[in-house]
Amino acid sequence: MQVNLKVIAGPYKSRIFSFAQHDSFLIGRNPEAHLCLPDDRYFSRNHCLLEMNPPHSFLRDLGSTNGTFVNGQRVRDAYLNNGDRIQCGETILVVEVTTRDLSETTQDSGLPTRPVLVMVECLNCGRREQAQASAPDEHLTFLCEDCRIELKRSPQAIPGYDMVKLLGRGGMGTVMLGREQRTGRAVAIKTLLPEFAVSDKAMRRFMREIDVAAALKHKNIVEFIDRGTHNGVVYLVTEFIDGADACKLAESQGGRLTYEDGISIIAQALDALSFAHAQGYIHRDFKDQNILVAGQSPNLLAKLTDFGLAKSFTHSGMSGVTMAGEMAGTLAYMPPEQLRNFRDVRPQSDIYAVGMTAYSLLTGSLALDLSKNSSVNDTIRAIFEQPPVPLRQRAPHIPQPVCEIIDRALAKDPAQRWQTAGAMRNALLHSI
Ligand SMILES: Nc1ncnc2c1ncn2[C@@H]1O[C@H](COP(=O)(O)OP(=O)(O)O)[C@@H](O)[C@H]1O
Ligand SMILES: [Mg+2]
Repeated sequence: MQVNLKVIAGPYKSRIFSFAQHDSFLIGRNPEAHLCLPDDRYFSRNHCLLEMNPPHSFLRDLGSTNGTFVNGQRVRDAYLNNGDRIQCGETILVVEVTTRDLSETTQDSGLPTRPVLVMVECLNCGRREQAQASAPDEHLTFLCEDCRIELKRSPQAIPGYDMVKLLGRGGMGTVMLGREQRTGRAVAIKTLLPEFAVSDKAMRRFMREIDVAAALKHKNIVEFIDRGTHNGVVYLVTEFIDGADACKLAESQGGRLTYEDGISIIAQALDALSFAHAQGYIHRDFKDQNILVAGQSPNLLAKLTDFGLAKSFTHSGMSGVTMAGEMAGTLAYMPPEQLRNFRDVRPQSDIYAVGMTAYSLLTGSLALDLSKNSSVNDTIRAIFEQPPVPLRQRAPHIPQPVCEIIDRALAKDPAQRWQTAGAMRNALLHSI
């Protein structure tokens, strides 16, 4: 499916921006905006940000002075539907949801085809509901909302495994401690609950992406064991790490890690990233909760998990837009280039997130001047515009050279950051 933004008034009149996959779209005077109006005083520098995940799309006004309007109403944020009119100053864009791309439409000069509504059956309880599909005969994996809520509370058993206890809940699903029946070994079972009906094609692509990540074998990367679907639930089985994620570890020690433990964990995580980057793989969701830590200080063993998972999950259409939820905590770690363009991620984007993670593990607070309860809009503006608070200001106990290494990872411009995880790791290990 595809979302088109057709400009029907303003300097970009007649331009059409098309999105066939998950993407973001920034409007403003910022020269890096996709719809850039550098000379239009009406616009704020970063005026509004759209997130597209066809057929869904979502708009967020970034606190612009003159406002963003959807169908004539000034909005802070809004889900967008086919036919909606977005207006900023003289510029008007119309949202169009279609099932095929524009090149096809212009060739046969027919009207773009709308997604069809089909009946789908919840794979858990059998309830029937309508869902959007590209074609009437498309097969979809679907879980109704009631079952999703119930399964998030108490996950169903996965064949071949005993469910032992709940380990944690995250944005995409639930993690259980399990026992593999064949071998008796302890495993972690993550169950993901698709929020939207997902096509077989998208599910296959998701599984392919999981398999690529599963091939990363390294002492600081959580080992992958198995994956599959069961009654509409997607499950991923990995080795169980008997310990805590770095965020919980910091909480258990009064909100921040000791300098030695923090550096040890970050250096190990950088080793894992350096290995993954060398194979062309980018994590995209590096954060304290995705570093699992076993052992006791000073012999901590850190392992990175969830490689590429958030992106694959969103990309498959199993979730709609991500900026609509309460993900401000995770969002604060996202580098500006990734926010502006979800597909523009590079090793340096992970390095920024390492900087953010190191900063909060060592200080107990975010590098941007935000509270954990700041709104998504404020968080996005801060990512684009606010310089990070130099680490030394928040952590006078940390040697200046180490502070500078972490501050450098947080440069807004990816070219100013450490260029490789290996270089950042070496610098850290040589300055302590
Ligand atoms: N392999 C694992 N072994 C032990 N605990 C795990 C494992 N994977 C995840 N967890 C725990 O489950 C929690 C939830 O994980 P997840 O769903 O990935 O959410 P998030 O990473 O967003 O916090 C983690 O924070 C961690 O404490
Ligand atoms: Mg995780």
